Amino acid sequence: MSGVPSLSALRGRDFLKETDFTREEMLSLLDLAAQLKSERAAGLEEQRLRGKAIALIFEKASTRTRSAFEVAAFHQGAHASSLDPSSSHIGRKESAADTARVLERMYDAIEYRGYAQSTVEELAAHSSVPVYNGLTDEWHPTQMLADFLTMREHSDKPFSEMSFAYLGDARSNMGNSMLVMGAIMGCDVRICAPSELWPTEEVQQIAGERAAQSGARLVITEDPREALPGADFVETDVWVSLGEPAEVWAERVSLLRPYRVDSTTLELTGNPRVRFLHCLPAFHDGRTEVGQRIAEETGLADGLEVSDEVFESGASVVFDEAENRLHTIKALLVATLA
Ligand code: CP
Repeated sequence: MSGVPSLSALRGRDFLKETDFTREEMLSLLDLAAQLKSERAAGLEEQRLRGKAIALIFEKASTRTRSAFEVAAFHQGAHASSLDPSSSHIGRKESAADTARVLERMYDAIEYRGYAQSTVEELAAHSSVPVYNGLTDEWHPTQMLADFLTMREHSDKPFSEMSFAYLGDARSNMGNSMLVMGAIMGCDVRICAPSELWPTEEVQQIAGERAAQSGARLVITEDPREALPGADFVETDVWVSLGEPAEVWAERVSLLRPYRVDSTTLELTGNPRVRFLHCLPAFHDGRTEVGQRIAEETGLADGLEVSDEVFESGASVVFDEAENRLHTIKALLVATLA
């Protein structure tokens, strides 16, 4: 592991957004995640983080990201402490800068999930230990590691020959991250959304610069018939992101209804081996409080951003993707701290 130059170069580094790492560093991290996953499955996992302590700050709810950091730390012999606004001072009585200067004296790394990207950047600027972005309004970089490991596991193509279509709210963290990560990795990227929900010019420019280096092909379109043909993967996300007010649902549903992923969407790829990705949680049936309410208001009883049929189909690899949060976050911890 220490013999791989792009991996040893990650020691002590922050991971605040996808552009923090090169394509080669991303590939090395994915290789390490695959190695750690198979070591664990074989009962051969070595603990490389014994004696380390990691602070986890969650200003927004989380199931997968929090669990992945906590379990990855546990498997590797490290300790993880969770802090949130109700049980700490962060954001209310203590700035991110002061919090960082306290936590760096006690912890070997800090994870942050919250609202503004500037908060995680401020934590990183004021701490000497690695800081990881567990999701902000702008980027979701640890999710990208899991998505791209899952794509690699479910395709026999290199990333330079892989195509994916991301449908839905494309100016959210997931839309931004899919566009830029696809550009870094050299993929055929199709972002499909109403123009009101396209990534900003700034994000498109970042992606364009990375595509020029990697050879990625980028299409941003309003037309699913342009985005879908030949796609190896179709991905979507919830139509209203964490932290947005409930009042935006009605407008968002009416804007995004043509971008819902259902069996017709997958047929439009023309690819019988197409796979479906979703970072989760997903509104694919009425078995959640919010899903039920929105289903009653919109008449979309069979799922919102994705139909229950597609979510539960053989094309869906969403639980492999969820599991890969663990292996990829473990790889990030090992590469930056071990
Ligand atoms: N995909 C994702 O970030 O899941 P959580 O919100 O449960 O962490």
